Amino acid sequence: MTSEIINFAVTPIKTIDLSHLNLVEIEEYCLMKIHTQSVTKSNQGGFQSGDIDLSEKVLRNLNNHLIIETHKLCDELQLKKPTKIDNMWVNINNYGHSNTNHIHPNCLLSGVFYPSQSYPENCGDIKFRHPAHDIMVYDWDSQQINYTKYNSLTYKLSPISGHAIIFPSWLVHKVEPNLNKNFLRVSMSFNMAKMR
Ligand SMILES: [Fe+2]
Repeated sequence: MTSEIINFAVTPIKTIDLSHLNLVEIEEYCLMKIHTQSVTKSNQGGFQSGDIDLSEKVLRNLNNHLIIETHKLCDELQLKKPTKIDNMWVNINNYGHSNTNHIHPNCLLSGVFYPSQSYPENCGDIKFRHPAHDIMVYDWDSQQINYTKYNSLTYKLSPISGHAIIFPSWLVHKVEPNLNKNFLRVSMSFNMAKMR
């Protein structure tokens, strides 16, 4: 007798170490953006820039690496490859600032990059929600013996210097409050549109 578990509806979240990039230069570029107009989207307090100019020299290596890593992910997922990053913006969360649950509509893949030299504990983890969270919460959320990829309703990642995360744009996520006084939590978010 044989049996197997089929992993249907798997949610891929890819993490990438890009700490070899010139982070000082990229972080400095991000911090300069605080002098521009903030927009309000998922941010609860904090600064969110408008779309930044992706042709800036300081962003070139970062963009190239993100596109290469996205292409590798698309190969793995057997999805058509986006040719470019469509938009990118800077988020700066000061003490108490957070981002509420949201998705990035009309995109294929989205991601975030952490350009600062270090990120203290409790500066705001990114927290993903299981696609069936709202149904599972009733019947599965009291039944886990250990949390696994099959039964976890949420998954959290702490920001790491120079790391990027790429995930499906339909995946609901939020950023927990930055609980560090006097620490600016800098991140860069981006979207890649689907191929027409
Ligand atoms: Fe987001």
